[in-house]
Amino acid sequence: TKTYLTGVQTSGMPHIGNYIGAIKPALAAASANDTLYFLADFHSLNSVKDPDRLRNDIRSVAATWLACGLDPQRTVIYRQSSIPEVFELSSILASVTAKGLMNRAHAYKAARDRNEAAGGTDLDAGVNMGLFNYPILMAADILVMEADVVPVGRDQVQHIEYTGDIARAFNHLYGDSYAFPIPQGAYPEGEASILPGIDGRKMSKSYDNHIPIFLPENKLKKLVRRIPTDSTPVEAPKDPDTSVPFQLLAQFAPAERVEPVRKRLEEGGMGWGELKNELFEVLNETFGPMRERYDELVAPGRELDAILTAGAERARERSRATLAKVRTAVGID
Ligand code: TYM
Repeated sequence: TKTYLTGVQTSGMPHIGNYIGAIKPALAAASANDTLYFLADFHSLNSVKDPDRLRNDIRSVAATWLACGLDPQRTVIYRQSSIPEVFELSSILASVTAKGLMNRAHAYKAARDRNEAAGGTDLDAGVNMGLFNYPILMAADILVMEADVVPVGRDQVQHIEYTGDIARAFNHLYGDSYAFPIPQGAYPEGEASILPGIDGRKMSKSYDNHIPIFLPENKLKKLVRRIPTDSTPVEAPKDPDTSVPFQLLAQFAPAERVEPVRKRLEEGGMGWGELKNELFEVLNETFGPMRERYDELVAPGRELDAILTAGAERARERSRATLAKVRTAVGID
């Protein structure tokens, strides 16, 4: 058996892109592997500065995993903030990580590019050290549990490569005493596996173009209706592959339901409104049955806390064991 690990930031209720990119594949791996899935609450501190919101978001992400089918007997689910060894390891890893590697990180570079495009003189404006160090903390999350496989969306490819780079740098120096296993990313198949948001860019909370997993039915319907489409008339042929509602439909509906829609769009005769209705139906059928359990878990109560506390205890058995070896290897034992 292999050890699978993944994390989701606690900045709002997870969206359907998170589901396709990470949650669904991670849950599919749970029956045959050791699985550790965690809430990246320290990572979300870079963007979420409202403590009450953060508390709610932590519950929301945990409840989402559980409502989507995570079995806490099988999978260790925990908060990143419950594992002090993550932060200890993060400091140790920082000492073997080249600053230049961090300079080239996509999220950091994107922030600088935005400042440049806006004509700013300080390209680091608005960048905090948490954002700059983000990849090191993520490497610590993965390496502290000695994970073999990390199921994530394709937007995380660079982070997984960096984790390997950082682990190799450590192993090169200290490998005679202790070497981290080099983890592999597991990405969803297909080029459409980075889901577009309702504006056509990558679906992301930071673009506010996302479809949260557990919206009440009426809100989900409204949001799907808001996806912009052009004014091609109902009877005219349309290109499904450049249509956001079609791309989303294709991720959630079985092929026998997608192909007739593709055909009708290509041949003409299906309007965008009907396509959006179909998308709403499919999303509602996918997540509707889990919504009740979500609402139950997220409401104030002890069930969620008890699950996270138990998960943290199990996770710490691993993280403590790793840190003992790492401390000895570096000479801080
Ligand atoms: P986060 O919280 O942004 O996203 C959680 C997961 O969802 C995937 N994802 C997507 N997949 C397909 N289409 C999209 N539009 C889309 N948007 C997001 C992400 O790839 C991710 O798998 N850095 C991580 C959190 C993290 C982590 C870790 C992950 C922290 N430490 C250790 C794995 C291992 C992140 O920002 O995910």
